[in-house]
Amino acid sequence: MIRVGIAGSTGYTGAELIKLVWAHPETELSVITSKSYEGKHITEVFPGLRRCSDLICQPLDVVQISNQVDVMFLALPHKVSMHWAPRFLEQGVKVVDLSADFRFQDAAVYEAAYQPHSSADLLEKSVYGLCEIYHDRIRSADLIGNPGCYPTSILLPLVPLLKKGMISSKGIVADSKSGVSGAGRSVSLGTHFCELNEGFKAYKVEGHRHTPEIEAILSDQSGQPVRMTFIPHLLPLTRGMLSTIYADTVQGVTREQVIDALTSYYSTQPFVRILKAGQFPDIAHVRHTNCCDIGVHANPDTGKLIIISAIDNLLKGAAGQAVQNMNIMMGLDQSTGLLDGQGVL
Ligand SMILES: NC(=O)c1ccc[n+]([C@@H]2O[C@H](COP(=O)([O-])OP(=O)(O)OC[C@H]3O[C@@H](n4cnc5c(N)ncnc54)[C@H](OP(=O)(O)O)[C@@H]3O)[C@@H](O)[C@H]2O)c1
Repeated sequence: MIRVGIAGSTGYTGAELIKLVWAHPETELSVITSKSYEGKHITEVFPGLRRCSDLICQPLDVVQISNQVDVMFLALPHKVSMHWAPRFLEQGVKVVDLSADFRFQDAAVYEAAYQPHSSADLLEKSVYGLCEIYHDRIRSADLIGNPGCYPTSILLPLVPLLKKGMISSKGIVADSKSGVSGAGRSVSLGTHFCELNEGFKAYKVEGHRHTPEIEAILSDQSGQPVRMTFIPHLLPLTRGMLSTIYADTVQGVTREQVIDALTSYYSTQPFVRILKAGQFPDIAHVRHTNCCDIGVHANPDTGKLIIISAIDNLLKGAAGQAVQNMNIMMGLDQSTGLLDGQGVL
């Protein structure tokens, strides 16, 4: 059995990780940590977890925890993870970090979008955990920077098309919408029910931190610098994410060719589902799954390709992908423990 610890277990992605690790046939949940709920049973925080686990929340004591775990998930805020990841690595524990702290290879790009990095030396060692794209590198990694939810929904459809030269690298626009759990569990006016309910708005229009993350991976994968427009929106839903992406096709490329290319690229991947012509994703069909559904439309009159993708932000966008990364790192089939939720309404 793989012994697993979860730091930040009282957050939304931490709670999803608890459920996934509990249901996983090859793992045991050894330690969960919390600062605010130290000494309390996790069921006092999330009564809905009664069936899975009643572990007591521990303080983040690296030496003690490292004796009890093989893999540590850091479901912590940005800037907090960069403090803890090196300490676990020093103790020989593999780390999957759900924050942005280890998603960038270039410290300057991270620092321009976030804050000074205190473990920048680890960035070249960390692997971007977009499982379908970086599978081979993840296999030998000790430290994973688990991708952001918006980037996952945008990169999975775009990477194969840019690599195959089917779309232009210029003028890509992603118009994305997220459920409110994407902002985490802590209370703020912007995520207050009365402020959100029956409303719908764009936010961070002037610049969102996920833009440089998406651009870095598109540039890495296509071998040329890619700049793009990304506008996030907040949906009055608990969970789910939908991205509508506009790109210019290279002349002569048809919808059928794009669907065939994506289908072939992901033919061995259990969690990317390419829909038939005329079908489009719905957040409801991926909720509680680790799947990314992708639908495609091409307008021959304008040369625009419209790609729509949907994921569950807490699963393929966070905890599900984190477990998929752990599976790959530990030599398991990547889908182990993740195939239960099939998105049936
Ligand atoms: N929510 C999503 O859809 C999503 C998607 C992709 C990536 N992510 C990323 O995943 C990470 C976790 O997100 P989340 O949504 O689960 O956040 P969250 O609900 O706000 O939970 C954060 C957790 O971190 C702990 N924490 C906060 N400050 C801490 C500190 N200084 N030291 C130690 N622990 C601290 C909190 O618990 P205690 O106070 O009990 O310790 C809490 O358990 C974030 O980096 C986020 O950006 C989230």
